[in-house]
Amino acid sequence: MYRSHTNGELRATHINKEVTLSGWVQKIRDKGFMIWVDLRDRYGITQLIFDEERTPKEMMTLASQLGREFVIQATGTVIERESKNPNMPTGDIEILVSKLTILNKSLTPPFTIEDATDGGEDLRMKYRYLDIRRKPVRDNLVFRHKVTMAVRNYLSNLDFVEVETPYLIKSTPEGARDFVVPSRMNEGQFYALPQSPQTFKQLLMVGGMDKYFQIVKCFRDEDLRADRQPEFTQIDCEMAYIEQEDILNTFEGLTRHLLKEINGVEVDKFPRITYDEAMKTYGNDKPDIRFGMKFGELNEVAQHKDFNVFNSAELVVGIAVPGGNQYSRKEIDQLIDWIKRPQVGALGMVYVRCNDDGTYKSSVDKFYDQEDLAKWAHATGASNGDLICVLSGEKNKVRGQLSALRMELASRLGLRKSDEFAPLWVIDFPLLEWDEETNRYHAMHHPFTSPKSGQLDLLESNPGAVKANAYDLVLNGNEIGGGSIRIHDKETQSLMFDYLGFSEEEAKAQFGFLMDAFQYGAPPHGGIAFGLDRLVAILGGQETIRDFIAFPKNNAGRDVMIDAPAPIDKEQLKELHLQLNLKP
Ligand code: AMO
Repeated sequence: MYRSHTNGELRATHINKEVTLSGWVQKIRDKGFMIWVDLRDRYGITQLIFDEERTPKEMMTLASQLGREFVIQATGTVIERESKNPNMPTGDIEILVSKLTILNKSLTPPFTIEDATDGGEDLRMKYRYLDIRRKPVRDNLVFRHKVTMAVRNYLSNLDFVEVETPYLIKSTPEGARDFVVPSRMNEGQFYALPQSPQTFKQLLMVGGMDKYFQIVKCFRDEDLRADRQPEFTQIDCEMAYIEQEDILNTFEGLTRHLLKEINGVEVDKFPRITYDEAMKTYGNDKPDIRFGMKFGELNEVAQHKDFNVFNSAELVVGIAVPGGNQYSRKEIDQLIDWIKRPQVGALGMVYVRCNDDGTYKSSVDKFYDQEDLAKWAHATGASNGDLICVLSGEKNKVRGQLSALRMELASRLGLRKSDEFAPLWVIDFPLLEWDEETNRYHAMHHPFTSPKSGQLDLLESNPGAVKANAYDLVLNGNEIGGGSIRIHDKETQSLMFDYLGFSEEEAKAQFGFLMDAFQYGAPPHGGIAFGLDRLVAILGGQETIRDFIAFPKNNAGRDVMIDAPAPIDKEQLKELHLQLNLKP
């Protein structure tokens, strides 16, 4: 028996009990005649004491040879501590050791295994197994487990069945690049790893599974960010015989349940706004509504004066920054520099100080009088003491820029509180999205999404205006889920492929199996997929999903611990019928 108790378990009620503990040496204090050791495992830390007068001599000698991260087993008696530590659950007691066994030695770890470690990100990733010994990392993984279990239980109780779908498939068009896997047995042919199980879950509906879910790995070869990994996990769901309303209600229920179960937070019915409204009000299809600073469009009140920058702009739009009149000239200049960075790309910013006495002072006083500026204040909802920031330019660009500024200011003002949760649905997404590069419309969600009823005819005359039965779930400014009601008949699906520029042969080669299936009684169906990593990170009060993944990839898509990706040897390449043409 390696242990009778864990290191987080013993209390004053255990005093005088004989116990055996196992774990890692966290800390050693060696006074010669007395040695204290903090022993750690997943459950906590317990203090061991070796005392010249009470501990057998050979055990004393052994204890003096211990080092950090040695794996040991200790048997002894629980005794009351002389100086108690109220900050530790086991702080009232310690173990007077009678028998010590070193189970394994350890090299000195490359960084300290403490909550606040001295290890940098790269080093911690290389030795991720040591990083996982640290409480904050371990706690995140346990937290993820709790969320995952709560999701499984909730959906299972609603009669959803978890079904596994294959990882070696053919490309699914979710908009990113595929990771491909060469086939040894089929020369010159490749599997693709799924970007999502989209087509399979639809086939499960044709198969009559009715309610499906899967907590599933998805793979996308795209540029990485704090909220993106090349392999990530979805809570993937699909339902048959439902309408959009049923999906929204079911998964609002799931999200509300998680917020209550995991965070102890009750939220009201989730607001719903259309994509168009979201873009107009927040410049963004995943608005953070924990705070206001809604956009006020100023074309009517700012154009047709002598200020040509505004007159020539498609959109003039502003936000009121609460208390922003306190910013010094220098601080405002810094803000202007911030939005001029290439990542944001604004050309400049006009601002208006809303003084406490109700007067205004703007950077364009030459062109606008107090009456004009009062109208700007009205349109942006500014009060005395605020600062109005105004940008202008091409509509889509300027909305993006002001949205970036809104988020940055909210962060600086401490308005993005991690223990506050503001979910919302964004609905009525456009079906299609114009792609500048290919000069063509693409499916905004994916090509299986159904247009709103009666809008199919618009496809020819005004494709950009067609709205889809597509929705996103947004939490604290992050898209945590997205889905749609699907097309379920062959004719509409063919029409859609045709419209998206697939020739009949291409559509048949890529999606013939789905179109075939639609001919054998496909029920109306729809679904949604949550990004589990994002959901867990946000519920955990953070936004970097790496911290909630046991073995994540770095920003270059590398696993620095196992050093992947890596070359493979010539034999393997040959077997796979591959030839590399690398430059010498
Ligand atoms: P979508 O592409 O919107 O929909 O993906 C669903 C959710 O997955 C998360 N997500 C990611 N998380 C981490 N890293 C990534 N690289 C990444 N990409 C996406 C997001 C997103 O909301 N098949 C459809 C779903 C459906 O229609 O039912 C799909 O995959 O949180």
